[in-house]
Amino acid sequence: MDELEGLPIPLLVWYRENARVLPWRSHPTPYRVWVSEIMLQQTRVAAVLDYYHRFLEAAPTVADLAALPEDTLMKLWQGLGYYSRARNLQKAARQIVERFGGVFPNTYEDIRALPGVGDYTAGAIASIAFGLPVPAVDGNVLRVAARITGDRGDVTSPAMKRKVTAALQEVIPAREPGAFNQAMMDLGAMVCLPNGAPLCTRCPAASFCRACREGLTGELPVKAPKKARRVEERRVYLLFSHGCVALRRRPGRGLLAGLWEYPNELASEGAIPAALGLSPDRLELVGTGKHIFTHIEWRMTAFSAQVGELDLPEGWVWAGRGALEREYAVPNAFQVFSEYVRGRLGYFS
Ligand code: ADE
Repeated sequence: MDELEGLPIPLLVWYRENARVLPWRSHPTPYRVWVSEIMLQQTRVAAVLDYYHRFLEAAPTVADLAALPEDTLMKLWQGLGYYSRARNLQKAARQIVERFGGVFPNTYEDIRALPGVGDYTAGAIASIAFGLPVPAVDGNVLRVAARITGDRGDVTSPAMKRKVTAALQEVIPAREPGAFNQAMMDLGAMVCLPNGAPLCTRCPAASFCRACREGLTGELPVKAPKKARRVEERRVYLLFSHGCVALRRRPGRGLLAGLWEYPNELASEGAIPAALGLSPDRLELVGTGKHIFTHIEWRMTAFSAQVGELDLPEGWVWAGRGALEREYAVPNAFQVFSEYVRGRLGYFS
């Protein structure tokens, strides 16, 4: 991967001119950088910005985050997805309070050991917040490196990640490691775009990039095909009573742990209406929705019913419009039905 040797200087020059202006870049304290990096895992910058500001307002320090009530934390994260990130963030904040007296740890090893922090995130925090010369290698950086070096290794493999990390470790500038890593991120996000559409005329690496010179940007990076997702047909029940809708809390472990949802089940089960004493002819078809998780795809069909007096099972609640908006964290998967639900709840409940 010798082509990477020529990268730091033109990349840093390009970055000075082209860096995105992002809130965590203006005051890169360890806490601010950490929160941003966790939010940015699997999530685009544009989707993170509003959440980032709200989060820092609600929890401006590690100690504030450690003390945040669980429901407040989940509500702050509602819509960002991958909710275990928020739980791990709080777990890590509590460890920092207990083990480090509330001061963010300043070695790569201690940062990497925090819950929710993998190699990439540890490298990003160590370099951006502490100026430690550690690469931060994610999918974007792998794409940039594979193209510049013309390497046909599978970028989804641990071996390729190790190879790129080792090569970047050799060239990362000791004086500006944070700028280097963030320049790689910005180059991947703005110039070295995926799916064969890079803007090579604007790229500071164009003159020594093998993919650009040899016309291989459409073929690189090489990626092994992903495993197919499991498809689940689900029925969702929107149950209304006295201006409220029924919600239930999901189990404390697994997918969307601890969040609130409209009662739903696999279509093949079909047990909920009977368990509530609702005959099928009281269910009205509302519509369908689809949601894609990492390993599962939900295909949902929603039904509604006006139920009057109904004793809800343990762990279910009636939520009015205000409570639904302010208190209960309902994941994005159900958002396709929320306009319908809001319409049925009216404004005064
Ligand atoms: N993606 C992940 N971390 C980032 C950062 N610090 N800046 C921009 N994009 C990112």
